[in-house]
Amino acid sequence: MTYAIEDALFSGDVLFEGSVGRTDLPGGDWPTLGRSIGVLLERFDDETVVHPGHMGLTTLGRERATNPFLRELSRS
Ligand SMILES: [Fe+2]
Repeated sequence: MTYAIEDALFSGDVLFEGSVGRTDLPGGDWPTLGRSIGVLLERFDDETVVHPGHMGLTTLGRERATNPFLRELSRS
């Protein structure tokens, strides 16, 4: 789950700086997580600041360009 508040995203365990939430834990599901991240990339600009639940601040554009999990997402 991600909250959009004003111009920022609070991405909890969905999207991190250089990583994404774990899907190996019970209830985790990569297709569901991938769809959730895909919706964020569609609906919000690259300049959107992301406040993850772990690790540092980032932006959607930075993650689109550098996050290896998002690269995998764009191939599927
Ligand atoms: Fe967490």
